[in-house]
Amino acid sequence: MAKLTDEISKRRTFAIISHPDAGKTTLTEKFLLYGGAIALAGSVKGKKTARHAVSDWMEIEKQRGISVTSSVLQFSYGGYCINILDTPGHQDFSEDTYRTLMAADSAVMVIDASKGVENQTRKLFKVCVMRHIPIFTFINKMDREARDPYELLEEIEGELGIATYPMNWPVGCGKEFKGVYDRGAGQMISFTANNGQREVAATAAAVDDPGLGALIGEDFAETLRGDVELLDGASAEFDLEAVQAGRLSPVFFGSALTNFGVEPFLKDFLRLTPPPLPRVCDEGEIDPFSPDFSAFVFKIQANMNKAHRDRIAFMRICSGKFEKSMEVLHVQGDKKMRLLQPQQMMAQEREVIDEAYAGDIIGVFDPGIFSIGDTICSPNRKIRFDGIPTFAPEHFARVRQLDTLKRKQFVKGTSQIAQEGAIQIFREPGKGMEEVIVGVVGTLQFDVLEYRLKNEYGVEIRLEMLSYQHLRWIEETPVEPKKLKITSDTKVVQDFKDNYLLLFTDTWNINWALDKNEGLRLAEFSR
Ligand code: G4P
Repeated sequence: MAKLTDEISKRRTFAIISHPDAGKTTLTEKFLLYGGAIALAGSVKGKKTARHAVSDWMEIEKQRGISVTSSVLQFSYGGYCINILDTPGHQDFSEDTYRTLMAADSAVMVIDASKGVENQTRKLFKVCVMRHIPIFTFINKMDREARDPYELLEEIEGELGIATYPMNWPVGCGKEFKGVYDRGAGQMISFTANNGQREVAATAAAVDDPGLGALIGEDFAETLRGDVELLDGASAEFDLEAVQAGRLSPVFFGSALTNFGVEPFLKDFLRLTPPPLPRVCDEGEIDPFSPDFSAFVFKIQANMNKAHRDRIAFMRICSGKFEKSMEVLHVQGDKKMRLLQPQQMMAQEREVIDEAYAGDIIGVFDPGIFSIGDTICSPNRKIRFDGIPTFAPEHFARVRQLDTLKRKQFVKGTSQIAQEGAIQIFREPGKGMEEVIVGVVGTLQFDVLEYRLKNEYGVEIRLEMLSYQHLRWIEETPVEPKKLKITSDTKVVQDFKDNYLLLFTDTWNINWALDKNEGLRLAEFSR
C-alpha cells in the first residue's frame, strides 16, 4: 500500500499545447534531456531530421510539418515520474486536443514571444481553458525579437479569459536578451546561450545589487528595477488555489532552443502542478490512490506502425495499479479480458511494461473492441467514467471511392478512422456504403482522411464539399424521417447506429423544420 501511494504521488501527467513552430518539440526534448531520457540535446536540428523523431508519428506530419496525432512520453526527473501528452498544433484538431486534455491533470501552453496568441491556435487554447485544469504558460524564443511582455500577458488574459502571473520577467530580447528576473528568488539570472548542454551556467544578482548594472548594463538594470516595482505593486498575489482551478496561469519567459529558463520552469512547474486528480464516474469521485484499478480510453490510433498495421487504444489510469497479466473488465463491452501487450512510450522507444500506476498512460493493442470514453476496471469494481463529449462537425463532404473494386477497403478505412474519432460518417437512407457523407470539426481532417485512405488502405477517393453547417439528431418525430417537411436545402441522413439526423445549411432552416413539423425534437448530441 505504501508503495502504491508513493508511486502515485510521484506522477505528474500533463499535456503540451502550442501553435505549430512555437517550440513545443524543442521544449519537450529539453525536458527529456533533463530527465536523462535522451542523450545530448541539440537533437532538434531541422524539420526533416530529428525534429519529428521523438513525438510525431505519421508521415503526413513530416510532409506538412504539423502534428496530427498526440503521443505520450514518460520520463523521470527530480523524484517525479512525468507523463507528457503531446497534442496536435492546429485548431482543426481541437477535438483531439480536448480528448487528450481529458487524460491530463494540467497543461503547458507554449507561446512564441514574437507572435503571442495566434489566430490558428485560439480555439485550441480555449479548449484548454474549457477543461478547468491548471494552465502553465511558457513564452518561448526570447533570444529572438519579441513583443512587449506586458502586451503579451494582456493578450493571453483578454483572449483566453484567464488571469496571468509572471513567475519571471524578461530583460531585453533578441540580440539584447539579458536573461530573466526570477520573482520568487528575487534574482536576475543572466542569459547564456547554451544549446545542447544540460547545465546552464548562470550568473545571478538581486535587483538592488550594485553589480546588476555590470551584469546586464545600466539601462537594462534601470528598466528592470522599474518593472519589478510595477509588477510587485500591480499584479495580483500568487494564488495557488486559482492556479489549480485553471483561473490563473503562471507565466515563464525563456528560450527552449538555447536551453535558457527550461530547468527553472520544469522545477517550478513540477512543484505547482497537481499529482493525479480524482475522476468522476457514475458512483461519484474515484480516488486515484484506491487500490482498485480503473482507466478510460481517450484515444484510439490505427496504423501507427506501418510494418505492423496495429491499432492502439490509449488509456489513462485513474486509480490503483495496473499489472501486465491482470484480468480487467471492459465495462461497455461487459467482458472480462487481459490487455494485450501494454506499452508505454519511453523517450524514443515503445516499451512493453509490466506495471503502471494512476496518472500513467498505457497503450494496448485493440482488436477493434474499444471506443473513446470506454471504462476498463478491476472486475470486482464495475464503474463507468463520464463520457468524453463529441464536438459537432462543422464541415461536410460527400466522399466517393474511385475504384469500385475496393469497396471493402473503403468501408474498413472510413469506419476505422471514424472509430478513432477523427471524422464522423453518415449515409443517405437507402444508399450503401460506396458513398458516405463525412463530417469533421476542421477541414484539415479531410486531407488526413484522403491521405490515410490512400496510404493505409490503398483507396483513392473524391471529396465533394457540401454546404451544410449544422447537424441535429432526430430525437422524436411525428412521421417517418423521410416524410418530414423540410426545405430543399436540408438533408436526412443516418449514422452508423442507424439513428436519423438532419443536415442544415443554416439556423433558419432548423427553425423552419421545427415550425412545420409539430412534435419534432432535435438534439445537438447523440445519446
Ligand atoms: P513545434 O514543435 O511547436 O512545431 O516547434 P519546434 O520545437 O519544432 O520549433 C520550431 C522552430 O523554432 C525550430 O526551428 C526550432 O529550432 C525553433 N525554436 C524553438 N525554440 C526556439 C527558441 O527558443 N529560440 C529560437 N531562436 N528558435 C527556437 P527549425 O525546425 O530549425 O525550423 P526553422 O527555424 O529552420 O524554420
